[in-house]
Amino acid sequence: MKEYLGPVSVVLISLLGHTDKNGAALIRGSANFRSSTAVVADSSLKDAFRNDFLIGTALNLTQIDEKDPLVTQFIPLQFNAITPENIMKCEVIQPGWDDYNFGPADRFVAYGRKHNMFIVGHTLIWHSQLSAFVKNIRSSDSLRLFMKNHIEKVAGRYAGQINSWDVVNEALNEDGSLRKSLFLEKLGPDYIRLAFELAARAAPNTELYYNDYNIEQPQKRAGVIAMVKKLRESGTRIDGIGIQAHWSIKNIPLQDIEASIIAYSALGLKVSFTELDLTCLPNPWDLTGSDVNQNYENSPFMNPYPSGLPDSMQAKLTKSYEDLFRLFVRYKDRIERVTFWGVCDGQSWLNNWPVRGRTNYPLLFDRNCKPKPAYEKVMALSDNP
Ligand code: G3I
Repeated sequence: MKEYLGPVSVVLISLLGHTDKNGAALIRGSANFRSSTAVVADSSLKDAFRNDFLIGTALNLTQIDEKDPLVTQFIPLQFNAITPENIMKCEVIQPGWDDYNFGPADRFVAYGRKHNMFIVGHTLIWHSQLSAFVKNIRSSDSLRLFMKNHIEKVAGRYAGQINSWDVVNEALNEDGSLRKSLFLEKLGPDYIRLAFELAARAAPNTELYYNDYNIEQPQKRAGVIAMVKKLRESGTRIDGIGIQAHWSIKNIPLQDIEASIIAYSALGLKVSFTELDLTCLPNPWDLTGSDVNQNYENSPFMNPYPSGLPDSMQAKLTKSYEDLFRLFVRYKDRIERVTFWGVCDGQSWLNNWPVRGRTNYPLLFDRNCKPKPAYEKVMALSDNP
């Protein structure tokens, strides 16, 4: 993994020349306390952890198309792995039976190659974000044919370019059983084997991952392990497990994470943290994980920090990230990649889930891509801060 190194980071990017009291350059007409440019960083995550694991991020189309000058310069300085946040999901990449929308995905892959990054494909088979035509499929044969076409076309198109695929996403319930879905209903549990076999054939040199949230939790972890064993008994290749890592600063399950790194790697699987973010906001039902089907009404109580995170919460976020990365560094030999689910706080899906229109602070960089105190603590844990 050490080959995905980029240039050493730039200390300061100031595109317009006007700076605020924190040294951040100001963007004209910007909203939501987003200034134009900022002190990007005098250091780089990907460089700091280059001997340990890859440092990834999830990209949206604006970032892939390099539309925002600040972010355009910032991303390759900090990250050496990328995942498409939405543009490779079924509803975007295959809107109809014979209708493929490869434009955005082609640009995503070209972006990764241009910056010499590790490229992750996300995701081939997921019950959510399916195109309408798939949701309307009635027969098992048609669904099997859809899976074959979809995986052959999508994974096949990027064979040799995408380094790792999230082949199956979120197939398990919290108790480790298989989630009710169109795929399970029409094809039975065997759909998972089918997906991995098709992916192995279409993209023979690509790492094949199972990706899910809360799979550090014992019951769900047991479900993953049972799935992996079943796949292997049938001679099907699976290379890695993606622990999504959508957690809360209220409670980082460090012991379960450690036990999971040990358990998954003991099976000879690669382990990656694929969608890391730490919510700082209250959760009405004390939810963990990321079932996107749940949503809640917005309210001042549910959106307590619209104009900045109080120091006490910032300290909690900092400590949570520090504890987490201390663990990651301890197990660096077993961890392939740590990917953040977004570049800067303003981009995060957690501003809109489980309540729309909130202001959340889940990442290491603020809305100006300025490193937060958590970043400094994380960097201090590396060999090359
Ligand atoms: O497609 C419409 C678009 O036409 C419209 O302009 C826009 C305006 O709101 O909404 C668009 O769709 C949204 C889409 O993101 C693109 O922004 C959906 O409403 C919204 O539900 C969707 O959310 C994504 C979510 O997956 C569901 O696909 C999040 O951005 C994305 O971060 C999230 O990512 C998932 C991983 O793939 C799997 N693991 C959990 C993770 C978090 O939910």
